[in-house]
Amino acid sequence: MSRTIAVLGGTGPAGTGLALRWVRAGETVIIGSRDAVRAQSTADAIRQQVGAQAKVSGMENAAACAASDLLVLTVPFEGQAALLKQLKPALRPGSVLIDVTVPLAASVGGRASRTIGVWQGSAAQQTAELVPKGVSVVAAFQNVSADVLNGDDDVDCDVIVCSDDPRATQVAMELAVKIPRVRAIDGGKLENARIVEQITALLIGLNIRHKGHGGMRITGLPEAAYKSFAK
Ligand SMILES: NC(=O)c1ccc[n+]([C@@H]2O[C@H](COP(=O)([O-])OP(=O)(O)OC[C@H]3O[C@@H](n4cnc5c(N)ncnc54)[C@H](OP(=O)(O)O)[C@@H]3O)[C@@H](O)[C@H]2O)c1
Repeated sequence: MSRTIAVLGGTGPAGTGLALRWVRAGETVIIGSRDAVRAQSTADAIRQQVGAQAKVSGMENAAACAASDLLVLTVPFEGQAALLKQLKPALRPGSVLIDVTVPLAASVGGRASRTIGVWQGSAAQQTAELVPKGVSVVAAFQNVSADVLNGDDDVDCDVIVCSDDPRATQVAMELAVKIPRVRAIDGGKLENARIVEQITALLIGLNIRHKGHGGMRITGLPEAAYKSFAK
């Protein structure tokens, strides 16, 4: 697998924040967008923050898929299915697609502190239904605030990684621990994304109530359950 990471919808706060952290860690990142110029301008902004050595570029989403087999999907739920249908011909078997989408009620005019029901169980399971055979879907990073990712401080959060493909889980866990202080935890099957996505709505509600950027830590598991930068 190529290590180039294509962040689809990478012009928004979630995708830009993840891309920024991975570029800072020395990874090669492509920002994907529906508009190549917008993607390039986000890539330029990241390069300005990180420095001239930054390995980041921007292109239209389909071109980004064609250039990488490690994809991260960071679009609002209302655009997820249509975008995946459009990108289907560009998604190659053997690729890993990490889905960050949360089905917030805000996508249908409701509150960001509530979610909407998804027939398949979760946004990530909907993605799994829409990608071509041979593309492994992972759910991860839904509980990490973009405000924190786009800042300079370490990220005081655990990332729960769910997938039906253990190889894809490992790939996502390795990416998660590129972000300073993040620990990655294998969260089991993709169906558990249903629960992880709901936690985002809770965190948004807490952040509104307490005016913060709260994240989540899981305590009490054996040391071996936590992957961190050192391991
Ligand atoms: N923001 C957070 O703190 C956070 C944290 C965890 C998870 N998430 C989840 O991550 C996802 C992205 O969050 P975000 O805040 O970055 O969202 P966003 O700013 O609303 O959207 C991200 C990007 O998606 C593209 N996009 C928007 N509507 C689209 C559509 N209908 N079809 C295709 N592409 C579309 C846009 O890029 P172009 O116009 O350039 O194509 C936009 O810049 C969401 O599902 C969100 O729930 C967000």
